[in-house]
Amino acid sequence: MPKPRPPGRPAPAGAKRDDRSGRPKPRPEADGAKRQAGAAKRHDGAAKRPDGARADPPRGEARSGGARTKAAAPDRRSGSAAMLPETAKAGPSRPAGDRAAARPMVDKGVAKPAFERGPAKPSVERGPAKPAGVARESRPTPGPLGPRIVQERIGVLLETPGWDDYQLLDSGEGAKLERYGALTVVRPEPQAMVPRRLSADRWTEAGAAFTGDVEEEGPGRWRTAAGIGETWEMAVLGVPFVCRLTAFRHVGVFPEQIAHWSFMAERLRAMAAGGERPRLLNLFGYTGIASLVAAAAGAEVTHVDASKKAIAWGRENQALAGLEAAPIRWIVDDAVAFAEREVRRGRLYDGILLDPPRFGRGPDGEVWSLEADLPHLVDLMRQVLAPGPSFLILTAYAIRASFLSIHELAADLLGHRSGVLTSGELVLLETGATGRPGRRLSTSLYTRFEGAQE
Ligand SMILES: C[S@@+](CC[C@H](N)C(=O)[O-])C[C@H]1O[C@@H](n2cnc3c(N)ncnc32)[C@H](O)[C@@H]1O
Repeated sequence: MPKPRPPGRPAPAGAKRDDRSGRPKPRPEADGAKRQAGAAKRHDGAAKRPDGARADPPRGEARSGGARTKAAAPDRRSGSAAMLPETAKAGPSRPAGDRAAARPMVDKGVAKPAFERGPAKPSVERGPAKPAGVARESRPTPGPLGPRIVQERIGVLLETPGWDDYQLLDSGEGAKLERYGALTVVRPEPQAMVPRRLSADRWTEAGAAFTGDVEEEGPGRWRTAAGIGETWEMAVLGVPFVCRLTAFRHVGVFPEQIAHWSFMAERLRAMAAGGERPRLLNLFGYTGIASLVAAAAGAEVTHVDASKKAIAWGRENQALAGLEAAPIRWIVDDAVAFAEREVRRGRLYDGILLDPPRFGRGPDGEVWSLEADLPHLVDLMRQVLAPGPSFLILTAYAIRASFLSIHELAADLLGHRSGVLTSGELVLLETGATGRPGRRLSTSLYTRFEGAQE
């Protein structure tokens, strides 16, 4: 194992590390790359470095919650609607001349990051390569449970222009340039086929660039400027959280999710105003930001993730947000196994978030494969989603499918209920080039069910 470095200290330039992960070996990085100064705020409270994608046993539930009784939803027929792009209710995007622009320039002649030197190597999105493990039994899922009466809205783009702490500054040539809080970051982006709009200097002066170097965990897969720590802080919808340079090129937040989180918070607040705490289930909850946004909106939250490290990161975020007293159950478990138990217990939830990776693994090695297991999981969710104005939001990343595939799955399993089923793509809007309309970058597919008041 590579010798651990204290948090906040960047790797030595050009450092090479063993790869014992079994993952595809990334291309070697040029030695002697120069580094730059940056402005990332250190966050030294974290002793561990969660990567948010691999799980360690054992598992357990941190708090217990109550149960509610199921009731049948009455059927009501409704029509379908035309499709329009929607802009997420995020805060205003930062003006040109953002914080990143004020960062010192890099030495010229710096070696280009590996991903800038040619076509990006195929990489696994949002999690480890397909794991070996315990395969699930195939389970039949029911067909449509009745006539499809849900109102269907197809092809709706949920566009996120960024907010105070996040901007998509530029994209192109297989990469994207983003600002997370005070840190500007370069990461591979296979969908970015456009030419870059900002200058090469704006790209090379970024505080951190994902290189795909060989270290399994920690920040060694990043090239960082001098003085850049591996953790820093930012906020979304009023909730502060810790960002971290992870080995899977993510930093602990998927900014396009703000479109879902704004919607969710609004719905939960409206439910909480009725006097009873709404219940939210967050499966594949990762670093817990959605769980904290939901708790801040008045919900009682059940957060499930297979990774102990991700749960630890979520708790760290909970403390940072000052929400220690909020009713959040942090559960290390396999999402499908947990959902099956919830069905047996007869539990009901007013809101459900599902953000599964394409491939994953439960704490006991249970294999999660989105294409194979999603129908069963959505069927389980159908059984725990409360009647009336409840909601379910499913996002899918990095699958070879149209949003129609998850739309039709949700429509078959939930379409017998009255409400609205909206499906499309989550999109980031570029904000970095002044005077030019921001380009759209699609990040994922989603489908969202909103039950009607009965
Ligand atoms: C990409 S993250 C979800 C992102 C998060 N919802 C958000 O937007 O911030 C996927 C998560 O699924 C978890 N995971 C993978 N396989 C799992 C399984 N079988 N059961 C539960 N969680 C799993 C990973 O640990 C990871 O934290």
